[in-house]
Amino acid sequence: MVNLTRGNPPTDVFPTEELIAAGTANLREDGKRVLQYLHAPGYPPLLELLAQKHGVETDQVILGNSSLELLMFTTMTEVKPGGTIFLESPSYDRANTLAKRSGANVVSVPVETDGVDLNKFEEALKKNRPDLFYIIADFQNPMGITTSAAKREQLAKWAREYDFLIIEDSPYRELRYSGTPVPQINSFAPEHVLTTSSFSKTLAPGLRMGYAYGPKEVIKRLTRYEVDTYIGTVTPTQGMVYEYLKTGRFEQNLEKLRNYYRPRLEAMMEVVEQNVPTAVFPRPEGGYFIGVTLPEGNSMEELLPKAAAAGYKLTDGRGYYLDPADGERFLRLPFPAMTPEEIRRDVPGLFELIKK
Ligand SMILES: Cc1ncc(COP(=O)(O)O)c(C=O)c1O
Repeated sequence: MVNLTRGNPPTDVFPTEELIAAGTANLREDGKRVLQYLHAPGYPPLLELLAQKHGVETDQVILGNSSLELLMFTTMTEVKPGGTIFLESPSYDRANTLAKRSGANVVSVPVETDGVDLNKFEEALKKNRPDLFYIIADFQNPMGITTSAAKREQLAKWAREYDFLIIEDSPYRELRYSGTPVPQINSFAPEHVLTTSSFSKTLAPGLRMGYAYGPKEVIKRLTRYEVDTYIGTVTPTQGMVYEYLKTGRFEQNLEKLRNYYRPRLEAMMEVVEQNVPTAVFPRPEGGYFIGVTLPEGNSMEELLPKAAAAGYKLTDGRGYYLDPADGERFLRLPFPAMTPEEIRRDVPGLFELIKK
């Protein structure tokens, strides 16, 4: 089977030995603290370190058992009854699910190659002020696009004007393989942006280590929510990650990941271009995915069973859209878990099943 489903990292990138050493050292030095109940917002040394890294105060940071959980909690604390959540279209399928599950009115705004369509966003804003706008501004899941600086600035301006919170979800931000970084949305409106991130793509997803930083009152409400839900997040993994970060190897590891994934992205773009020249896709500069819109005449309904029979496991493109019909021709291709050779050898066969 060729697995093109989820955004799993290849297991050979996990710094297992270093994490063992970090976990052991932390348990030896601070075991009494990390094995005891520790109230939210999380392990203080790690909160401090993340605050320094992102240039905020320590009480502006909270740790979560994954960033998805923090996203879910934010939909609980920041959306008023009968309130509205805006998302990009397409967006991360699990974010779509969490937004819908929260009971909010959910509205999606289409993206272009440089981020959300501002005219459509403004139209939606005028109809309905959101409580939250969830955006993946860097190397979006599932499209791979990056929101331009001008669009980020305008979105921040609207967040101030219409008084809503932007959730800037950025698990891929540090995985840039070419081009130059774009300022974060939080730099344009720090009072209106909660930035979420995760060690899932930069260390290992099994750690379930996510975090968020932003306005103090939002962090306070999230902290209360965590305390009321389960007192505090899992602490020994926070101790392990803290100790690992202290060694200074995180940056080195990031550089290794960038060099590892860059040729995989290039191979995937080349294979799509050569095999389906009429497909439409952005040229991502980082992250995990390329979002491909297949030519007219293709549909997920037909492709999924045909692909499965031919040995390709795909994710249903319709899940990335609030209206599943919009995703009939949408194919998300994750590239990090296959070598460039595997991509060139195995992926073209999938395109033989596609109407050109
Ligand atoms: C945009 C985005 N946010 C969040 C996550 C999940 O992160 P975590 O493992 O921290 O829940 C993913 C994982 O694929 C993602 O693509």
